[in-house]
Amino acid sequence: MTDRFTLTRRLAHDHLARTLRADVTAGLTGTPKTLPPKWFYDARGSALFDEITRLPEYYLTRAEREILTAHCAEIAALSGARTLAELGSGSSEKTRLLLDALAPALHTYAPLDVSPSALREAGQALVRDYPGLTVAATVADFETSLELPDTPGPHLLAFLGSTVGNLDAAQRAAFFTSVRGALGERDALLLGADLVKDTPTLHRAYDDERGVTAEFNKNVLLVLNRELDADFDPGAFTHRAVWNAAEERVEMHLRSAAAQQVKIPALDLLVAFEAGEDLRTEISVKFRPGALIGELAAAGLTVHRWWTDPGERFALLLAFPG
Ligand code: AVJ
Repeated sequence: MTDRFTLTRRLAHDHLARTLRADVTAGLTGTPKTLPPKWFYDARGSALFDEITRLPEYYLTRAEREILTAHCAEIAALSGARTLAELGSGSSEKTRLLLDALAPALHTYAPLDVSPSALREAGQALVRDYPGLTVAATVADFETSLELPDTPGPHLLAFLGSTVGNLDAAQRAAFFTSVRGALGERDALLLGADLVKDTPTLHRAYDDERGVTAEFNKNVLLVLNRELDADFDPGAFTHRAVWNAAEERVEMHLRSAAAQQVKIPALDLLVAFEAGEDLRTEISVKFRPGALIGELAAAGLTVHRWWTDPGERFALLLAFPG
């Protein structure tokens, strides 16, 4: 059983520690202050995100699951995939919908993630539940390098959950170009993208009644406290979800209630916040299908088919090189 699961490390052992330090230094010395959302996801952050996906206000996960449930057979037939690769593999529940649909022809499931523990846990459960399946997991940072495993094709590269919304326009252009470079002629990209919709619905999804999203947002401060010996007081910040209409994105901010100074000894940094100053911790871009199809085309990816849920809240796109 274990020989059907392999874990390959394509990250230097200190890659994450180094990028965290570089990200925090750049983000907290710039104006406005920012932090990249990838640092939310330690064990507690990942558990809080799982809880978010089950909140009544957070429609994204349910909408995407509706689309996958309705159309996974068609996706399987169109892709003919023998390898399912998945970026930021997170929720194995949606993965299983795809695995079930692809099952007869599928040879390998190839999840890519920065977290070896998440890969090992999810991968070992899958080889147990899918007796014919090989799981070739890779510890990698797809922002730095994107390479598909050398397993039987065609490959279907899935990037679900609208995580692509964490990238701004320039980062998306670079990302789609690197996806195009990684795909062979018969390979395909399956992309999940949240759509522009009314502001109250978006606002509620990122500022839920129970405050789970607020806890998730503040968790990044605890990550910095632990990893960099910082002395952030999460209680001195308030969670805000802001709709940026010009950029058509939700932004998560942490607002400093009062003037304060935060020490980050590992970076030899003292960070001063003014009263009411915001630290932006995430962008979550909302898409218009036509514009997104245009962005993919500009990177050499042709959308062959796209689907939405009945409420037209979320889209799933299947694109091929060409
Ligand atoms: C995992 C990036 C898709 O932007 O909706 C959830 C993360 N942030 N609630 C999103 C998130 C606040 C989520 N993504």
